[in-house]
Amino acid sequence: MCGSVGMFLGCTALSACPLAELLRRDGGEVDYRSPFDRWDERASVRRAPRRLVEAEEGPYFPSELMAVADHPLVRALSPQDFRTVQLRHLHRYLRFTIELETKYVNPVALALASHGYGLDLPARMKLDAMRVYTDEAYHALVATDLLMQSEERSGVPERRRPPGFAVAFAELVAQAPPGRTALLELVFVGVSETLITGTLSQLPRAREAPSGLRDAVRDHASDEARHHRYFSAVLAEVWSALSAEDRVEVGALVPTLIDIFLRPDLDPVAADLVEAGLTEDQAALVVAETMGDERVAGQRARVAESAVRAFEAAGALADTAVRHAFEDAGLPAA
Ligand SMILES: [Fe+2]
Ligand SMILES: [Fe+2]
Repeated sequence: MCGSVGMFLGCTALSACPLAELLRRDGGEVDYRSPFDRWDERASVRRAPRRLVEAEEGPYFPSELMAVADHPLVRALSPQDFRTVQLRHLHRYLRFTIELETKYVNPVALALASHGYGLDLPARMKLDAMRVYTDEAYHALVATDLLMQSEERSGVPERRRPPGFAVAFAELVAQAPPGRTALLELVFVGVSETLITGTLSQLPRAREAPSGLRDAVRDHASDEARHHRYFSAVLAEVWSALSAEDRVEVGALVPTLIDIFLRPDLDPVAADLVEAGLTEDQAALVVAETMGDERVAGQRARVAESAVRAFEAAGALADTAVRHAFEDAGLPAA
C-alpha cells in the first residue's frame, strides 16, 4: 500500500491502492498539450555544464535574500561570522532541494509515470512524468554537488537535519485517515511544483549571488517552468476525478499544504546565529523581528499566487467552503 512517502517505488499492490480506487474513472481522451516538446534541447540535464562553487573569497549566499541579514544585531557581526551565517543558509537551501526532489516530487512523478493513480492519463503525459523524474534527479544531483563543494571549500560540514516542511507534512499525514496518504502526497507535490518557480525566480537576480549558485538556480527555474504547466494539468485531472465530497475535503486542506511548504524554519536559523556569536536571546529576537508571522504573511501570499491560480484553474476553488478556506488563510483567488 502507498502508506508513506517513497512507498510508491516498486509498489506491487496497485490494484488495491486506495487512491487508485478513489480516482479511477471512465473518460474520454484528456486534452493534453505537452510542455516538454523541446525537452531534449532545453532540459538542464541535457545542456548545462557542471556548476561550481567559486574558489575565491565571496558570499556563499546572497544576503539580500536572507531575512535576518538586515537586523542590526546581524549587521554588527564580523564579516567572518556573517559568512558562516550565509554558508549555513546555503546548506539549508540545498538540503531543502535535495529532500524535496528525492523524497517527495520524484516518488509522485514515478507513480504518475507508472500507474498514474488510476487516472486515465494519455501515454504522452506518463512519458512526461519520466522527464520530470529525470529533471528532479538532476536538480538533486546539482544541489548535492554544490553542497559537497561548499563543505570542501569552507571546511565546515553541513549540520544535517530534515527541513521543517518534512516534519510538518509527516504530522499532517499522521492525522489524516490512512487511505488519504497517497492523495495528500500527490496534492502536496502539486503545491510545491506550482509555486516553486516564484521562489526560484528571485535568486538569479540577486546582486550578490555567487555565479555557480546563480547559474544552477537559473537552470532549475527554467526546468520548473515546464513542471508548473505539467502539474497544473495533473491537478486538473485529479480534481475532475474526485467526488464532490472529496473535492471539498482535500481542497480545504490546500491552504495548509501551502503553509507547510512556505513556513520559515525558524529554529535552525536561530542556531546559525548562535553559532555566529549571538546569545540565544539575541538570536530569538532577530528571528522574531525579521521572520515573524506578520513579516512573512504578505510575502507568502505573493509567492503562493501561482499555486492558487493553478488550483483555481483545476476547479479546486469551485466550492464555496474551499474558497473560504483559501480566503481565511490569506490566499484569495484572483
Ligand atoms: Fe526541481
Ligand atoms: Fe519540479
